[in-house]
Amino acid sequence: MVYSTVSTTTSMPLPMAKDILLFFSLTILVSIFLLSTHFMIKWSRENKKRRKMNLPPGMSLGLPFLGETLAYLKPHKATSIGHFMDHRIKRYGKIYSSNLFGEPTIVSADAGLNRFVLQNEGRWFECSYPKSIGGILGKWSMLVLVGEMHQEMRMISLNFLSAARLRTSLLPEVERQTKLVLRSWQVESPFSAQEEAKKFTFNLMAKNIMSMDQEEAETEKLRLEYITFMKGVVSAPLNFPGTSYHKALKSRSAILKVIERKMDERLRRSYCKGMEERIEEDDLLGWALRQSNFSKEQILDLLLSLLFAGHETSSMALSLAIFFLEGCPEAVEELREEHLRVARQQEKRGQCHLSWEDYKQMEFTQCVINETLRLGNVVRFLHRKVIKDVQYKGIDIPSGWKILPVLAAVHLDPSLYEDPQQFNPWRWQSRSHLGATTPNFMPYGGGPRLCAGFELAKLEIAVFLHHLVLSYRWELAEPDEAIAYPFVDFRKGLPIKVYNIT
Ligand code: HEM
Ligand SMILES: *[C@@H]1O[C@H](CO)[C@@H](O)[C@H](O)[C@H]1NC(C)=O
Ligand SMILES: *[C@@H]1O[C@H](CO)[C@@H](O)[C@H](O)[C@H]1NC(C)=O
Repeated sequence: MVYSTVSTTTSMPLPMAKDILLFFSLTILVSIFLLSTHFMIKWSRENKKRRKMNLPPGMSLGLPFLGETLAYLKPHKATSIGHFMDHRIKRYGKIYSSNLFGEPTIVSADAGLNRFVLQNEGRWFECSYPKSIGGILGKWSMLVLVGEMHQEMRMISLNFLSAARLRTSLLPEVERQTKLVLRSWQVESPFSAQEEAKKFTFNLMAKNIMSMDQEEAETEKLRLEYITFMKGVVSAPLNFPGTSYHKALKSRSAILKVIERKMDERLRRSYCKGMEERIEEDDLLGWALRQSNFSKEQILDLLLSLLFAGHETSSMALSLAIFFLEGCPEAVEELREEHLRVARQQEKRGQCHLSWEDYKQMEFTQCVINETLRLGNVVRFLHRKVIKDVQYKGIDIPSGWKILPVLAAVHLDPSLYEDPQQFNPWRWQSRSHLGATTPNFMPYGGGPRLCAGFELAKLEIAVFLHHLVLSYRWELAEPDEAIAYPFVDFRKGLPIKVYNIT
């Protein structure tokens, strides 16, 4: 908007351009003045309200608007909580206040408060992601919707990811995609394990969501478009040419076009066939078209947000598992024994694919998955808004504030997990251990917005690890580490070398 106005003024006769320039400068000055008084009034009103309450300590004025956001978002090792968090917790305790993302915010590293917030979604708290996320994922995305509309979309996703479908159609598909990826690996020459993990989860989601096969050129094009899209989700929402956000919005429409074409194709085909014998394709697109009265726009956003939620998170979890295991040969050894047992059973049955019973035997694998998520913290904190004044253990939580449940801080809390920086899957075996109990472990969130795909995520990682440990040995081709930006990413894309197992 602003951009196009500026470019037209330059082509005008000079005197007129001058007037317009003057007008603009004045407008900008006045706006700055009005904005700053607005913020100052708001600030002092907030301060007055604040003095009467028992708020968590820590609120410093910081810079207006930005506050302490930059310090809070400063990149740090994914297996740590970072300097800002560490410093605040030592100084103020596990519940403190700050000025983040332009709003007064309560930050919680307290397991009890985190549970309280997530379980009271819709009552005292409400999901509230920054505007940039809504702009890119769409206003109908499940991650930004609240209330009834969210419930409706969630039901479709849950049906789609149900236990029954997991057994009958998702398990075989996960195994097929795993084999495709592993078979394509070259031994003894380095490649990015993170890239491979992303291909795996992307192709899996593209197949399950709209029956796109990885062999199709369109799928690969979509995947590349998606990478640009992702960069925008995590960038500042500055929309003018050249910014990541702008590029991401363009990718969003390119991706939507592909999905839309698939949808039109589907509708056309079912129309030609007539209602009775229409092809009932067993993918999310088919489900959404059959089971709901959603508009086209709503279905597009639903599919896009599932692609988003189901792709980045599980590929990162898988990369982290590959990384942590590389540094823990004893765990790889135990994992291999477990999967050899499964493979031998399979052989006895005379089958060459995993069954649901096989999957249920992978107990140590589940410990590895939990430990990977505890230490790596793919989703580090959640965004919530307080919608009604509420108290928690005598602390006032005022309506209108934001509250961030920091899942990572609980998972890395030394009073809950012994030696929390250590990758130790065995801690999940001894249930006597203080930390390894479900209430303090929430990698998938909780309450009415609990991750809809966590069973699929576990299945993906377990099946991938099964074939990985049975086919290859692996090592890092060069040192790398996972960084929380705060979205987790490997500095160098996790370069590894693999060797055949003989
Ligand atoms: C290890 C992998 C994964 C992790 C750590 C993870 C984590 C999470 C978390 C923490 C949330 C809650 C967000 C919030 O409350 O604001 C969430 C929501 C969600 N996840 Fe996952 N997720 C993973 C994999 C998946 C997969 C594979 C899918 C789908 C195929 C998926 C689909 C969703 C959906 C649809 C939601 C929104 C649920 C709702 O709002 O009702 N996730 N995930
Ligand atoms: C779908 O239909 C139900 C009632 O049949 C209605 O309550 C709901 O709002 C509709 N949803 C949409 C997205 O139009
Ligand atoms: C892993 O964590 C989940 C909670 O997300 C828990 O229900 C499960 O029992 C844990 N698995 C193991 C093997 O401890």
